[in-house]
Amino acid sequence: MANQDFLNEINKRRTFAIISHPDAGKTTITEKLLLLGQLIQTAGSVKGRKGDKHATSDWMTMEQQRGISITSSVMQFPYKDRIVNLLDTPGHEDFSEDTYRTLTAVDSVLMVIDGAKGVEDRTIKLMDVCRLRDTPILTFINKMDRDIRDPIELLDEVEDVLKIRAAPITWPIGMSHFFKGVYNLYTDTIHVFIRGRGHTLTDDIQIKGLDSDEAREHLGDLYDDFVDEIDLVKGASHEFDLDEYLAGRITPVFFGTALSNFGIREMLDGFVQWAPAPMGRGTLTRHVESREEAFSGFIFKIQANMDPKHRDRVAFMRICSGSYRKGMKMRHNRLGKDVKVTDAVSFTAGDRDSVDEAWSGDIIGLHNHGTIQIGDTFTEGEDLKFTGIPHFAPELYRRVRLTDPLKMKALQKGLQQLSEEGSTQLFMPQRNNELIVGAVGQLQFEVVSYRLKDEYKVECIYEAVNVNTARWVECDDPKKFEEFKRKCYDYLAVDGGGHLTYLAPTRVNLMMAEEKWPDVRFRATREH
Ligand code: G4P
Repeated sequence: MANQDFLNEINKRRTFAIISHPDAGKTTITEKLLLLGQLIQTAGSVKGRKGDKHATSDWMTMEQQRGISITSSVMQFPYKDRIVNLLDTPGHEDFSEDTYRTLTAVDSVLMVIDGAKGVEDRTIKLMDVCRLRDTPILTFINKMDRDIRDPIELLDEVEDVLKIRAAPITWPIGMSHFFKGVYNLYTDTIHVFIRGRGHTLTDDIQIKGLDSDEAREHLGDLYDDFVDEIDLVKGASHEFDLDEYLAGRITPVFFGTALSNFGIREMLDGFVQWAPAPMGRGTLTRHVESREEAFSGFIFKIQANMDPKHRDRVAFMRICSGSYRKGMKMRHNRLGKDVKVTDAVSFTAGDRDSVDEAWSGDIIGLHNHGTIQIGDTFTEGEDLKFTGIPHFAPELYRRVRLTDPLKMKALQKGLQQLSEEGSTQLFMPQRNNELIVGAVGQLQFEVVSYRLKDEYKVECIYEAVNVNTARWVECDDPKKFEEFKRKCYDYLAVDGGGHLTYLAPTRVNLMMAEEKWPDVRFRATREH
């Protein structure tokens, strides 16, 4: 039986990530969360805030970008009686498979939507990943200080496009120049918006009761219409239900403006109240509960340090049960090897600090000299392998051509090793000797080409290739599978891990192949 202090540590943790389309306001919200968590005193101080997010092929920029990603990958802060872990999901140009995989290491997500734009395509993709584990989702509709779309229409769009029921918790009073605050439908409280206070923490000015003289005065001409609107919203929208939220079927919705630091506090209050404490995880053999005392964790991301003077790699581990203590012995299960870990790091607000203790739900970094791979499980001795940390089918593909053909071996080795780090994947078609690299984000091609040159001394160029998407294929009927392999020979390739893959030149081609071969499973993800 685990002791109470131990359980308290785990129960107070809340580990989440933000999903959004670029420019919806993720960075701004992160800043305001750090302000509320008192990790920073004024907004605008988060590293890499401006300029850095638009990476170019210029190496210095890339290096800076990597540096920033490393240091701000995980932010931990206390809020009320919780310990909040916010995991960064790379966006903009450094959007990559890491972004998707980070979502396998959290217990819930915050979805940020630009109120003027509504649901955008990157959000749809990220939401699909969340759905793999029915991750609970809280929604923040941002930029109420601008002309936004009709909030009712926005909620309809969330429901129609993202296939999740929306339950508004707060409702905006006006918008743009007439934005006056938000009304909490459950506490019957108006939170008053005051312009120009975005950079520091401010008091929460409240008016109790919509049916009050104070409320009438604050809303002025908007009052009557707003009361009607609230009646409509109450009648037409879904009511919040905690169990449905925890099952990923309903999303509580908050409105506000991150830039003006308004509405974030209400959202964070809702988050720490409802978001799940560290959840258990499946392994090949059994379900591991987060409150078990024995330590276990898995690796979901490997970050290479781009500084040539410090050629280490950091492996990011989500602790799934028990606790990490500095100097403890861990079993690296894939290798069947015990290692003493004395130098794990935490990433609190920008700096890598040596960590003495960490609990289930936390993220720690292990120094890695090439032995740790994505998906690896570490335990205190039990033979376990966590599942649900997949490779995702890349969305962009390039053929790699060597400038010096004699360096083929080095190129293959380099691509293979880089694909083990997990941000790009390698495919070798059956019908020729080509090497095809697949990635989820554009910047990864540049990173690979730089690192091939720097670490493996091979120069390569990329060429366009006629591949639209990849699917890992498998089939229970060996005879049918043989026939499929013969007939589809030209489309098949082997990936970096030796798995058979169907490279489809178009979506239509993929659909037709799926129809023609109903016994073959075409998978968009593959477990490590
Ligand atoms: P991202 O990380 O999701 O990509 O978005 P980010 O926070 O960088 O915000 C994108 C742009 O939207 C920024 O403007 C930011 O200031 C603005 N923004 C964020 N929240 C709000 C809001 O509530 N209201 C308004 N009006 N704007 C908001 P930018 O001009 O691209 O950058 P910057 O020069 O302001 O940094």
